[in-house]
Amino acid sequence: MSKLWGGRFTKKTDQLVEEYTASIEFDKELAEEDIQGSLAHVTMLGKQGILSAEDVEQIQDGLHRVLQRIRRGEIEFAIADEDIHMNIEKSLIDDIGPVGGKLHTGRSRNDQVATDMHLYLRKRVVEFVGLLHKLQESLIGQAKENLDTIVPGYTHLQRAQPILFAHHLMAYVSMFGRDIERLQDSYKRINTLPLGAGALAGTTFPIDRHYVAEQLKFDRVYENSLDAVSDRDFIVEFLSHASLIMMHLSRLSEELILWSSTEFRFVELDDAFCTGSSIMPQKKNPDVPELVRGKTGRVYGDLVGLLTVLKSLPLAYNKDMQEDKEGMFDTVKTLQGALQLFAPMIATMKVNKQQMRQAVNQDFSNATDIADFLVGKGLPFRQAHEVIGKTVLYCIENNKYLLDLTLDEFKQFSTLFDDRIYQVLQPEQVVNARNVYGGTATVQVEAAIGRAQEQLEQTAAWVAEYLERSK
Ligand code: ARG
Repeated sequence: MSKLWGGRFTKKTDQLVEEYTASIEFDKELAEEDIQGSLAHVTMLGKQGILSAEDVEQIQDGLHRVLQRIRRGEIEFAIADEDIHMNIEKSLIDDIGPVGGKLHTGRSRNDQVATDMHLYLRKRVVEFVGLLHKLQESLIGQAKENLDTIVPGYTHLQRAQPILFAHHLMAYVSMFGRDIERLQDSYKRINTLPLGAGALAGTTFPIDRHYVAEQLKFDRVYENSLDAVSDRDFIVEFLSHASLIMMHLSRLSEELILWSSTEFRFVELDDAFCTGSSIMPQKKNPDVPELVRGKTGRVYGDLVGLLTVLKSLPLAYNKDMQEDKEGMFDTVKTLQGALQLFAPMIATMKVNKQQMRQAVNQDFSNATDIADFLVGKGLPFRQAHEVIGKTVLYCIENNKYLLDLTLDEFKQFSTLFDDRIYQVLQPEQVVNARNVYGGTATVQVEAAIGRAQEQLEQTAAWVAEYLERSK
């Protein structure tokens, strides 16, 4: 059978052009959504009296059969049929005969492909919220195990102030919490129906767009037909949210890589998540976080790629827009891979509490607290800062830590010191002194974990509800 659009043409399409313009190799991913959209469309055509009940029934039965055959891998898609939309229409016509050609009444591939993408992405967004939820659960689980683990907190990658390791992990819970919020917020824009926009201007048939929206569980329909077929903002938005998630994962990856190095030895990733070296028998490499760090680049690339495709594109549909898909699929796959691995990798990670404690004992991260102690005695903070700076310098020159100094040594720098400083300098004391909302004191971190757990429950409820809505 010739091309579905072959009427106007007198020559065969050049073979290279056919291959160059076809998208079936990648848009076959949208087969389920394409049929889902077609079923709703044809049902509406029947309700509106645009097609007869018998035609509608035949088309619906045919579409169901085509779907089953696709699922069983029985349909071989053809490049000559260009894309998933025409491949499915062709299969339908092969199955039920010319009546299959009535399916495309009042519709264009332009509003059809946009609809497929919306259906596809809304499911993925809900799945990603679910995966982020799992990762948060793992992080919170580790945080609960490490409420008594003190570790140096860093700025400039230099030891700054001791903190609870739980507090550090909970920072990531907050970051992924924002990612969840962003995805949830994007859902309402993704869940807007383009179908009914036709090629660009609407259609002459008396269609009912809202009825189609209702069947497909869309919250609303696009206001403007040109916008409906030329909008890819929702994909850009998704790629941008995915970029942020990958950026967050890459920061955590970097820390895991550092922490599992011999120089730190703060954590050990489970063997199941590491690989060895083909030449150096002693090695255990953190390949998973390394690859996640690396793959962050391709997700950014997908985002910038699509933004660039869309830049300066005149309204409405242009073939350029076919380039929206591969990057989106690539990002979906990349993000799925990373998130699926991260939750169990965090859950099974061994935390070397002793090594962390040793790092805390052998550094000056309690220096701020004796400065604060002198401030409490009435010394202006700037002067206290200077005094402690000199005290630390003295320690470095004499190979000591602050807790090693005698009271007499302290008093060389300020007569305001008294023996309470030994208490002030204890890491537990240093941590628990930061008893402000959002701070590292144990009670604050416990409260933060409590709030995060409540949030987890809300997220789980959202996922359950929206999985149902986005089927
Ligand atoms: N494969 C096309 C795409 O993904 C479908 C829309 C084609 N529309 C057209 N007017 N050629 O963009």
